[in-house]
Amino acid sequence: MANNLPLHIAIIMDGNGRWAKNRRLPRLAGHRAGAEAVKRTIEAAQQVGIKFLTLYAFSTENWSRPQDEIDGLMDLLCKTLDTYTDEAQKKNYRLLISGSREKLSTAVLQRIDRAVQNTMQNTGLTVNLALNYGARQEIVHAVNALIAAGKKEISMEDVSANLYQPQVPEPELIIRTSGEERLSNFLLWQAAYSEFYFTPVLWPDFNAQELQKALNSYAQRTRRFGGI
Ligand code: FPP
Repeated sequence: MANNLPLHIAIIMDGNGRWAKNRRLPRLAGHRAGAEAVKRTIEAAQQVGIKFLTLYAFSTENWSRPQDEIDGLMDLLCKTLDTYTDEAQKKNYRLLISGSREKLSTAVLQRIDRAVQNTMQNTGLTVNLALNYGARQEIVHAVNALIAAGKKEISMEDVSANLYQPQVPEPELIIRTSGEERLSNFLLWQAAYSEFYFTPVLWPDFNAQELQKALNSYAQRTRRFGGI
């Protein structure tokens, strides 16, 4: 089983809104419960020995949501990052951010810079927060960096080396909650050989047991990378 443990899991955390709606609560209550699930999942991933955990926290498309929901999400993110930075120090987690800085407020940028800076020496689980993230934008960003460096012809390795976080390996397993079964502009380049796990569980209900179910499913699969 340990042999079949992914090094890197990426999660599309979906279903906060429906979780809140089912309880006749405002959408933001769903996001708050989602932030609790984030904490539980980080703990659980560390416990089972995952080395990299990428979490899709805010996509470039999420800016089209109502402004009060965006403000609430950003506020929640700031609060979570404030407590997370202390927690990360205690538990030896490292935080990385994947995404564009464009459109993010100074308050958010200050917090992410502080969290990244303060945890960079930590050697335990790396939590890579996909924030203001879009995979097509990431690929274009990589190509533009290569053009700026004067490249006339590029290789796949060049693209990989110029993604937002080149030190993060490709995810062996991508999980999406809430019954939706699509990638939604997440890790398009890195997902070339990823296994997918879809669960109807809504993100605020995700926990260590649900993570274990995904890991059990992954452990039973044979990855052939195009071979036989
Ligand atoms: C999808 O639910 C979730 C998001 C758009 C944001 C993810 C945010 C969190 C899990 C909480 C905050 C995160 C951190 C890192 C503190 P949805 O709103 O699309 O749900 P729906 O599809 O049911 O409407």
